[in-house]
Amino acid sequence: MINDEELTVLKKQRDAVILAHYYAAPEVQDIADYVGDSFYLSKVAAGIKCRTIIFAGVRFMGECAKILNPQKDVLMPDDRADCFMAHMIDNEFIKKCREKYDDLAVVCYVNSTTETKVYSDVCVTSSNAVNIVRKLPNKNILFIPDKNLGRHVAMQVPEKHFIFNDGFCPIHEHMRASEISTLKKLHPQAKVLAHPECNEDVIKLADYIGSTSGILNYAAKSDDKEFIIATEIGIRHKLMRANAEKNYYFPETVPKCLNMKLNTLDSVIKVLKNGGNAIQVDEKLAGPARKTLVRMLELA
Ligand code: 13P
Ligand code: SF4
Repeated sequence: MINDEELTVLKKQRDAVILAHYYAAPEVQDIADYVGDSFYLSKVAAGIKCRTIIFAGVRFMGECAKILNPQKDVLMPDDRADCFMAHMIDNEFIKKCREKYDDLAVVCYVNSTTETKVYSDVCVTSSNAVNIVRKLPNKNILFIPDKNLGRHVAMQVPEKHFIFNDGFCPIHEHMRASEISTLKKLHPQAKVLAHPECNEDVIKLADYIGSTSGILNYAAKSDDKEFIIATEIGIRHKLMRANAEKNYYFPETVPKCLNMKLNTLDSVIKVLKNGGNAIQVDEKLAGPARKTLVRMLELA
């Protein structure tokens, strides 16, 4: 265990700030300077003054922070922490779509590799995707890599024509609607709050669909006292911190992102003490990828 003073000394020595996603382990969220959803963390990363960013998230998040801050060191507590979905797009498919469709915008969920961002026109996160797609002048939208977020955006923006890709987050895609229905029977007053990465059958049962911060805001502001939460279990920590007297129910097959869980307290402290696991992004890729992230920050 580390106490607050030791942590402050270590952060000062490395001139570091700790960013953590809501899916990181509770004890990591507790020592982080900033905790949030993907969009919030990229906004924070864009304005960091310290020399070092310790990113308790997955690789694409660290890469975004590095692309937005090429002069800074971005360190991952565990360099194996990656996002499965980020690799579920074949960039050849993007090229083929560009040839096939005129007036096309390639809209890339931030859960993607730097290379995929290079082939895209704009990035989005789950909290701003609908707004950004609505603002784009293009008629045709190729939404990559997540089919589930893509479908959710398409429902909200019916005036555009969407082309989808078959990517998904295994944790949200494999969540069982039957488990949500069972929870609804057990807790008939509970509202179902779902992340848009969930599969269609789970989404159909939702009272609210939103990003991790959207889910947290909804639960905090609502007069309701019970919620069925359809997203990764890490969010429970912040839900409890915000309103411990409310009840939050998760599917029996606990949705757990093992990559996010590689961010343990030990691994964060280790990288803070010793350095290592620095994110490297070739400037040839970083330049064009930066444009898609900056466009997101401008449009959101
Ligand atoms: P949020 O942007 O909603 O935090 O989602 C990130 C993510 O990886 C969800 O699986
Ligand atoms: Fe990627 Fe899914 Fe993990 Fe989010 S929960 S980081 S989308 S694998």
